Amino acid sequence: MFERHQGGDKAVLVHVDFPPQSPHDASREDCDEFVELVRSAGLTTLELITTRRDRPDPKTFIGEGKVADLKDAVTLHEAPLVLFNHRLTPGQERNLEQILGCRVIDRVGLILDIFAQRAQTHEGKLQVELAQLKHLSTRLIRGWTHLERQKGGIGLRGPGETQLETDRRLIRDRMRWIESRLHKVEKQRQQGRKSRQRAALPTVALVGYTNAGKSTLFNRLTQAGVYQADQLFATLDPTLRRVEWPETGPLVLADTVGFIRHLPHDLVAAFKATLEETRDAQLLLHVIDASDPRRDDNIEQVEQVLRDIGADDVPCLRVYNKTDRLTDASPGLRTEGQHQASVWISAKTGAGMQELREAIVLGLGDQVVSLKLRLPPEAGRIRALLYQQNMVLVEKDLPEGGCEVDVRSSKVTWERFVRQSGIDLSGLIA
Ligand code: GTP
Repeated sequence: MFERHQGGDKAVLVHVDFPPQSPHDASREDCDEFVELVRSAGLTTLELITTRRDRPDPKTFIGEGKVADLKDAVTLHEAPLVLFNHRLTPGQERNLEQILGCRVIDRVGLILDIFAQRAQTHEGKLQVELAQLKHLSTRLIRGWTHLERQKGGIGLRGPGETQLETDRRLIRDRMRWIESRLHKVEKQRQQGRKSRQRAALPTVALVGYTNAGKSTLFNRLTQAGVYQADQLFATLDPTLRRVEWPETGPLVLADTVGFIRHLPHDLVAAFKATLEETRDAQLLLHVIDASDPRRDDNIEQVEQVLRDIGADDVPCLRVYNKTDRLTDASPGLRTEGQHQASVWISAKTGAGMQELREAIVLGLGDQVVSLKLRLPPEAGRIRALLYQQNMVLVEKDLPEGGCEVDVRSSKVTWERFVRQSGIDLSGLIA
């Protein structure tokens, strides 16, 4: 019998390379990304230990010899924590903790921890806790977790229950409670989405690989102060802002959590809320870190997730970000072969923003009304109303008097405006 070790904020990291195409290839994770994830979790790396294996050792994942090396490193650094860049079985995790005398956390546990730190909304927090409980429930082994002790204990144990049974029951009860709460929150959110659909503002959602610069772009587009940091998963909950540009009229901009390769399946389900926003959007902005050497692979990962959640029929505009880091790419619009148009920008410097907004207008297609109106001098009231609604893009004086205006608005706002103002536009459209 032993208690789980507490852990701490300094860790020894373990990464194993398996031969490509081996049946364990799924365990091959990107090592740099692992180090980045650890930094995101706010942890300090004491040492990174890498090794090669053909297959995981059933007892300790890395095998006896390497465990001895790992133990030396743990002792040397007095490390309170060891992190694995792989999914460990509960048995492996427990064996390693016993041998090493410190807390061992696998990749899923690490990602869950980051999610737990970043969750902001009530719903996000509940979802993370549920995913954590699911992860924990497979790791309940006799003499390991004593939940009732953590919770104060007395009176929690049912008649004739062993400690392990009590732990399992507590987790089950808590999971059931969270699921019912989530169900309710989800219903409320759908209400919110419905009322937005009633208001029928077009939604533009930012998606992309983690650290691509979505929050930075979101902030630039909305001038709002959303939390952003040089860390993965700086955005966990769907963040929605109403924006109103002269070119588009009002629309909703949605920021989403960054995608990551090998995201455990449970987590994809847990972040359904964010992803659902994506499916309902009229346009996706796929934000790409153009300076990342794994750029093409990241694009494929994101597109795969979009296919998985059924968002692949939503029109999608590729936005290549961080052009300021490239010497050979200037900001602006481009066409990718016969592929869709893409926009190259720098969210940091603001380069390419005008082109991006134009591309958004094009991407929203028939969601946006774009008209030229010839207004005679006596149509002053219409002109004033258009200005009041922020719909006038350009105005030109006409030689015969009056003016010609370029008007742009979302379709819904335009239709409502025409209905409510009671103006007759016939004969005015140029
Ligand atoms: P997640 O929340 O993890 O999905 O990340 P994100 O896609 O929202 O990325 P975020 O906006 O937090 O940016 C990640 C890092 O990239 C930050 O350090 C930003 O300052 C930096 N960054 C964003 N845009 C640019 C850019 O155009 N140029 C440069 N050089 N850095 C950028």
